[in-house]
Amino acid sequence: MIKSATASHFPAVRMRRMRKDAFSRAMMREHVLTPADLIYPVFITEGENHREKVSSMPGVERLSLDELLSVAEECVALNIPVMALFPVIHASLKTPDGSEAANPDGLIPRAVRELKKRFPELGILTDVALDPYTSHGQDGVLDAHGYVLNDETCAILTRQALAQAEAGVDIVAPSDMMDGRIGVVRNALEAHHHIYTRIMAYSAKYASAFYGPFRDAVGSSATLGKSDKMTYQMDPANSNEALREVALDLAEGADMVMVKPGLPYLDIVRRVKDEFKVPTFAYQVSGEYAMIKAAAQNGWLDHDRTMMESMIAFKRAGADGILTYFALDVARRLKQG
Ligand code: PBG
Repeated sequence: MIKSATASHFPAVRMRRMRKDAFSRAMMREHVLTPADLIYPVFITEGENHREKVSSMPGVERLSLDELLSVAEECVALNIPVMALFPVIHASLKTPDGSEAANPDGLIPRAVRELKKRFPELGILTDVALDPYTSHGQDGVLDAHGYVLNDETCAILTRQALAQAEAGVDIVAPSDMMDGRIGVVRNALEAHHHIYTRIMAYSAKYASAFYGPFRDAVGSSATLGKSDKMTYQMDPANSNEALREVALDLAEGADMVMVKPGLPYLDIVRRVKDEFKVPTFAYQVSGEYAMIKAAAQNGWLDHDRTMMESMIAFKRAGADGILTYFALDVARRLKQG
């Protein structure tokens, strides 16, 4: 038989009291998500009237420029502040040094000009890295042993960033993990009077298996083959090293920093935010997206609830914004209330 409670058996604090009703849960909610937290990454390709599904990323398509404009319009309507552009480069334009990356009339500069003309209020971010442009799928130029050369790569990245800035991009995002690249890019931007071009540095970018579906999307998994990016991207076992990377990128002139991948690296997001108190972003990468999609398609997870929970987890960890392939879905959910 259950004994009737005496004073000494009452819990001193009842945490469930505040959780009991929706109003009191709302009163003590510590974090909120808004469309302003979202950055939408998109894949763009040559052609017209063309959309191609990415099989390892259900719901994601490679878009021709005209199709991209309608997606941009949707971002504006949903109050998503920024779109991030990734190119699918035709095999005939890929070379060992990835020089197409710096072509002022290449796919990305053309897309930037078109987008800024049609939607000047929409922020545009472009990736500074060579992997979509190299015939070997690495983010830089190689020596005779296949090692990615640092300073030679930085020189091409600088030309790439300048071509993007000249096209009118708002934010350049070096994702290559070469040493010193933020400094040389910042210098070149200043020297060419692009003083308002913001730099979001992929500062703590790990050598991650979670990038697999992205490499399918831009077509670098085929060129990369079995080789990896361990000589420049970070070891997933490390945490202090991420803080050193962030410190360097800030000293070299980054306006914002990023941690990538996202959910498996929220501890890094929190450490970076606590240590530096600068605008800190997280990238929920292709493999994280694919995992949630695959489980939802199997009926193993509730798609929308899992998606929204992952978003608030980024906010709780201290992220000021999230690059996510779910951005449109999340913004639509937020609009429904
Ligand atoms: C290119 C780049 C990658 C991603 C963003 N920029 C791939 C890589 O480094 O191999 C991954 C994004 C994703 O997985 O969603 N340097």
